[in-house]
Amino acid sequence: MEKLIGKNKVSTAIFISGTGSNFKNLIKFSLLKRSPIKIKCVISNTKNAKGLKYANKYGIKKKIYDFKKNKNFENKIINFLKNNDINLICLAGFMKILPPIFIRKFNGIILNIHPSLLPKYKGLNTHQRVIENNEKFTGCTVHFVNSKLDSGKIILQKRIKVFKKDNPLSLSKRVLKKEHQLYPKAILKVFSNL
Ligand code: GRF
Repeated sequence: MEKLIGKNKVSTAIFISGTGSNFKNLIKFSLLKRSPIKIKCVISNTKNAKGLKYANKYGIKKKIYDFKKNKNFENKIINFLKNNDINLICLAGFMKILPPIFIRKFNGIILNIHPSLLPKYKGLNTHQRVIENNEKFTGCTVHFVNSKLDSGKIILQKRIKVFKKDNPLSLSKRVLKKEHQLYPKAILKVFSNL
């Protein structure tokens, strides 16, 4: 990461698939003076991602790559990111697994946020599984992305209580609020460690 920090903010791409509340939150964070990042573009695997509206609102370049229909999509995304001098990738509710070639190219500069206390509850439907297992606590994790799903080095975690009355929706809402605090903190941590 060291070589990425110059006088300027780090050119960042956000990857989304859905609502984009983390994307919106990161845009707001990026506009703060103390933020080390500048968001240059957003990439989605679907045109239906609601979060793409924030790209329009904040004048951020957007690209859609349908992984199924788009042949050779990984090279297209790699070229797009290289052409835009992207030095940090933040996955924010991105629901596709990135191919190994992609992870190799951007090794060490891809972050992800996951709605559980990793290494517990990797993958999908975390809140449902947390409730089924009667966990007392859950939370969220920001980590580096490596070739194994939700398994890269952990940067920061935030723990919250699970209440008896919780259902997956109520839990997801509370965790999401914590995600919005955690992602900017984790980014600050990554860049303050240099
Ligand atoms: C978040 O809970 C994130 O951790 C998970 O998907 C959700 C995306 O929410 N991977 P949003 O699209 O950022 O609102």
